[in-house]
Amino acid sequence: MKTRIYDMTDENSYRIGIADAAKTIRSGGLVVFPTETVYGLGANALDAEAVSRIFLAKGRPSDNPLIIHVTDMEMADVVSDSDVQQAEQMMKAFMPGPITVILKKKQTVPDAVTAGLNTVAVRMPEQRVARDLIAASGVPIAAPSANLSGKPSPTAPEDVLEDMDGKADVILLDGECRYGVESTVVDCTVFPARILRPGAITQEELSVTFALDESLNRNESERPKAPGMKYRHYKPNASVTAVCGSDGSVVDYINERVAQDPEGSAVLAFEELKNRIVCAQVFSLGCRDIPMQSTHVLFAQFRECDRRGIRHIYTMCPKEEGIGRAFMNRLQKAADEVIRLKQS
Ligand code: TXA
Ligand code: MG
Repeated sequence: MKTRIYDMTDENSYRIGIADAAKTIRSGGLVVFPTETVYGLGANALDAEAVSRIFLAKGRPSDNPLIIHVTDMEMADVVSDSDVQQAEQMMKAFMPGPITVILKKKQTVPDAVTAGLNTVAVRMPEQRVARDLIAASGVPIAAPSANLSGKPSPTAPEDVLEDMDGKADVILLDGECRYGVESTVVDCTVFPARILRPGAITQEELSVTFALDESLNRNESERPKAPGMKYRHYKPNASVTAVCGSDGSVVDYINERVAQDPEGSAVLAFEELKNRIVCAQVFSLGCRDIPMQSTHVLFAQFRECDRRGIRHIYTMCPKEEGIGRAFMNRLQKAADEVIRLKQS
């Protein structure tokens, strides 16, 4: 397939790109579009055949449901029952933004979207290309992240082209995604609501206003409520070792491991500790105390390591709070081993 690619940072291409992409969605095609979290691979959510093409293009298991992207509450009502009190309040408080709510599904939504569940995931992105695309299409858009199944989500144009050139009808490129990690998924069909996937809207922010069931954090062996969370995910080709602990012990441990294969190793290190790492390929995770910076670059750096043919990635870990929870959640799914060094 010849993919039509538009640079949305150019005003002229912007108009033509939105028009082509909207027409493609309406006629059952596939469009890759940017959001503030990661790039998505979209199709008309009300067209079962179009939706089935998403699963084919990604190589995604059909029991993993998709998120439906809408522009406003009116469009959310087409696919879901959002007039439940906690859901409505949460949507008003955080949408548009990097959050997805699980609601009761309406009959209009094909089973292919929800993998046969009676619930549906709804998200209202704030990124302007995403919003303009949904509005111009006039239909809700079902979209998973635009990576091949199992790979890290694409957060920059080169990542998208790597996985989707030749697979989607249209690709809209608009630079790096602001957050670089997928939306927070909150199940609003239960009370108290449950965070099924940590993301850019943090547990701390949500719990200011909403009662949250935190049992998911405590009981990790429980069957995952977000079906996608059971799959191994976000995986670069290189092996991934996460190393947590005090600064000195983490630096020493990583240096020792890198020495076993100096050529084939790369280290993802906090800016403050970078200079203490003895390795030819060190990537910055930004400031240790600003987990937003680390989260923004994690997937992009995994992909860059693959491009460079790296065999082993060693990464430092931010504090597991705020958006740092999303970082650790994704890292643990990508990691072959998580080393927890004793605090000295
Ligand atoms: O930021 C994001 O959420 C991105 C952008 C493109 O919007 N999308 C994304 O989609 O990350 P995806 O398909 O990669 O992840 C969707 C997650 C999966 O873990 C899936 O199992 C879960 O949401 N999910 C979807 N529908 C669900 C439902 N009805 N009940 C529970 N979990 C659901
Ligand atoms: Mg995904």
